[in-house]
Amino acid sequence: MASINRRRALAGSAALAVCAPVLAACGSDGSTAVDSGPSDGSGASDSGETLASAADVPVGGCFVVQDAKVVVTQPTEGDFKAFTAVCTHQGCLVETSTEGDIPCPCHSSKFSLEDGSPVSGPATSALAPVEITVDGDSILRA
Ligand code: FES
Repeated sequence: MASINRRRALAGSAALAVCAPVLAACGSDGSTAVDSGPSDGSGASDSGETLASAADVPVGGCFVVQDAKVVVTQPTEGDFKAFTAVCTHQGCLVETSTEGDIPCPCHSSKFSLEDGSPVSGPATSALAPVEITVDGDSILRA
């Protein structure tokens, strides 16, 4: 009997050890926020870093570069812009889309492909711009 109780106690401790970091990363509403990187919100800042291929970015949509936490948009063909992919509401990463805006999956904010400004949802601040250059088919951090 004592060994069962001890086993249960150990199992409970293990569950707490596994869950605690997960809980720490969750918002009060259950959403998962991400580290926004440097204080400018632009993610890593390696100048010249290749972010994406132009072909990755849909016309009238956006492509999220997960590792760099940057979203590259193409509002009109051949016109590329980039912003931090960290939502200004509660810090989720926005999503790749072909729907004419930059959507956040956590609470449905949507941002402009042109300037990163919020167009709907709870977010009230724009996504910070990220300077890019286009070199042939490559989109690079400026
Ligand atoms: Fe809430 Fe993006 S984190 S809408």
